Amino acid sequence: MANTQHKINLSSQGTALKSLFTGYLVVVAVGYLMAIVQIQFTHGMADGKLGLSTDDIVYSYYGKRSGSTLESKLDGSMKMMAPEEDRLKIINWVRKGADEKSFNESGIRQIMDNSCIACHSAPSGMPVPDFTKFENVAHVSKTDTGASFSSLARVSHIHLFGISFIFMFVGLIFSLASGIPKALKSTVIVMPYIFLLIDIASWWLTKLNPHFAWLVIIGGGTMGLSFAFMWIVSMYEMWIMPRIHDDDRDALLDE
Ligand code: HEC
Repeated sequence: MANTQHKINLSSQGTALKSLFTGYLVVVAVGYLMAIVQIQFTHGMADGKLGLSTDDIVYSYYGKRSGSTLESKLDGSMKMMAPEEDRLKIINWVRKGADEKSFNESGIRQIMDNSCIACHSAPSGMPVPDFTKFENVAHVSKTDTGASFSSLARVSHIHLFGISFIFMFVGLIFSLASGIPKALKSTVIVMPYIFLLIDIASWWLTKLNPHFAWLVIIGGGTMGLSFAFMWIVSMYEMWIMPRIHDDDRDALLDE
């Protein structure tokens, strides 16, 4: 019988290469978990409740078009940044027209100085609007149209480059697994790339039409599932599955 299995497989690698692969897989998995935590704090909080829902995705990309960005953030991911009373004062000020005179005179400036500018100012180094300048406060007081096209373009290209790179190595390691049928293996390897494109396309689609929010969840979820599958199989074959020696296998296959 012909030996159709390729000889390089995960279980028969030396400890050094297995350690390298394992180190990479563990760090990337922790990175993935951190990304999920971060999503909970930004998008997950968009509707003011922890946990990711389609509402969160609609608010994040399409926006909450009944109000301003400032108000929806104060009901969402910025809810915990100021005491209830101050939060309501800011929201009230926005609803009354958000003009500069009352900003300075009715204590909104004071609230922002106390609760917001630790992060929302140039010295913090965070990529968030600088609220020491009134024009930036005025800008977020306008109708909330969700993510801007420029921020979508920025996050899209970072995700496309970064995530495809991660899946290059995770897929490369997984491609050396020996216990998975070829067709399934190729499918699992290519899946994250297809769903990465769908995921990113769905952000733009949701920006234009809130009905696409479910596609964001499917795109991200499928990417996570293929990651978990490749990770578990690779770890299993390296450390738990009995080692395959070429001689043993040739003998087995010859029988
Ligand atoms: C601990 C740091 C921190 C503090 C304090 C903070 N923010 Fe933020 N803010 C962020 C981060 C990070 C983002 C971006 C992530 C997000 O949108 O949730 C953000 C985003 C925002 C946005 C959306 C900006 C945009 O253009 O999309 C608004 C509006 C906002 N914050 C308002 C406030 C207000 C008002 C306060 C004070 C009551 C405040 N923030 C306090 C960190 C902070």
